[in-house]
Amino acid sequence: MSNNKTLLLLGSGAREHALAEKLTRDGATVHVLPGNAGIPNSNPEIDPLDFEAVKAFAQAHDSKLIVVGPEAPLAAGITDFFAGSDIQVFGPTRSAARLESSKVWSKEFMRRHGVATAQAWPFRSDNIAEARVKAAELGGHVVVKYDGLAAGKGVYVCASPEEAEAAFDDLQTSYSGWFSFLLEEKLTGPEISIIGLTDGHVIRLLATSQDHKQLLAGDLGPNTGGMGAYCPVPFADDNVLATIRRDIIDPTLRGLQHEQFEFRGFLYFGVMITPTGPKLLEYNVRLGDPEAEVLLPALDSSLLDLIEGTLNGTLSRQGVVQRPGAFVGVVLASGGYPVSGFPTGFPITGLDNLPAGVQAYHGATRHDAAGQLVTNGGRVLVLTAHGQDLSEATARAYEACRVVSFQDMYVRTDIAQRPAPVLTQAVVN
Ligand code: AMP
Ligand code: GLY
Repeated sequence: MSNNKTLLLLGSGAREHALAEKLTRDGATVHVLPGNAGIPNSNPEIDPLDFEAVKAFAQAHDSKLIVVGPEAPLAAGITDFFAGSDIQVFGPTRSAARLESSKVWSKEFMRRHGVATAQAWPFRSDNIAEARVKAAELGGHVVVKYDGLAAGKGVYVCASPEEAEAAFDDLQTSYSGWFSFLLEEKLTGPEISIIGLTDGHVIRLLATSQDHKQLLAGDLGPNTGGMGAYCPVPFADDNVLATIRRDIIDPTLRGLQHEQFEFRGFLYFGVMITPTGPKLLEYNVRLGDPEAEVLLPALDSSLLDLIEGTLNGTLSRQGVVQRPGAFVGVVLASGGYPVSGFPTGFPITGLDNLPAGVQAYHGATRHDAAGQLVTNGGRVLVLTAHGQDLSEATARAYEACRVVSFQDMYVRTDIAQRPAPVLTQAVVN
C-alpha cells in the first residue's frame, strides 16, 4: 500500500533516527530536515522552523507528507501553515499543541474534562509571594513548573520548603519578564509513558514504556533528556491499562472532540501510578525521546500505514501489532552532561563491531574535518537491543555499550532494572 512514498521528517535527534529507520523499512523515501551525521538523507542546511524553506524542499522533492519529530515546529504552527495545501502534516495544530506547550492551559484542559491529575494552582511571576505561601502550606512537597516549553528543564520536584524556595529563586533568575507557572501537589509512584497515534477520535496505542530521566542509577541526580528506556512495562497489565483508559485517555479524547481540536498525530501521556490510581503528569504532542528508540523497533505494523490512516480517517480500521519480547535502549552520554560546558568533539569507535541485532541511533554526532565521527552534544547515541524478555534485552544492550567508546563516555548502569512496584487496588478498579 505504501510503496514509493516520499516524506519529510523534521528533527535531529536519536528519536528522528529511529523514525527515519522505521519509515524507510516501511517502504518510504525519507528526507530528514535537518537530521544529523548518522541519519541517511539528512539536510543540515534546512531549519525546521523555517516553514517556507520546508515548503520549498517538499515541493522540490514532490513530497506530500511531513512527519514532525520534536514539539517546537508544532508549537510554532507548522500544521496550520500547511492547512488547505496539498501537503499533509502529521502533528496537531498550534492551538492543540498547547497540551504540551503550556502547562497551565494543559492543566485547565485536564480539569475541564475530568482527566485524573495532580491538584495544581496557577501563578504569575508578579505573585510568586503567594506561591511561596502555598508551597509552605504543603510542607514543600510540591512540583513547580514553568508554563512554556523549556526543553526538559523548568520542572522542579521539591521535597522540602528549602527546595521549594530554591525552585522559586531559580525560576526568577532563569526566566526574565512576565511568565506563568504552576504549583502542583507532589505525587508518588512509578511512571509509565503511554504513547499512541490519534485522529482525535480513535487512538491506537504503541507498547507501554518507561524512561529513566535522572542521570544516576537509582533515579538520583539531576534530570536529563532521558538516559534510557525500555518496553513493554511488565506491571502495566490489561487491568492497569483499562484504568488509565477510563480515567485519562478517554476523557482526553472526549475533550479534544468537545473543543473541536484538529489533532492528528502522536499523543503522549506521562502517567504516574499513585496509591490512589493513575494520574496524568503531562501530555506531549509527539513521540517521547528516548521512548521512540525502543517503541519503533518493537512495532511490527507499518508506521507509515498508521500515519496515513490517522490523516485519512481510516485509523479505526487499523490495528497495531508488536514484535514479541522486550526492547531496551541505553543512552551513551558525554561526561559532564546535563550541565552545560562539557567538552565534545571526541572520536567515536566501535560502531562497526556492534553485536548482531543491536541498533545504534545517533543523537548528537558529527563528522569532523577529517571525516571522523565525533561527539557533538550530551546524548550522543542510543543503543537498542531486543531479547526474549527484559533481562535478555538488558544484557544485550549493555554488552553493546562495552563495544562502543569515546572519551568521557557516561552510561547509566540500571536501565530497565527498576524493582517491580506493588500496586494498590485503586489502580486496577
Ligand atoms: P513533566 O514535564 O510535567 O512531565 O515533569 C517532568 C518530571 O517531573 C515527570 O516525569 C515526573 O518525574 C516529575 N513530576 C512532574 N509532575 C509531578 C508531580 N505532580 N508529582 C511528582 N513528580 C512529578
Ligand atoms: N521522554 C520524555 C519526553 O520525551 O518528553
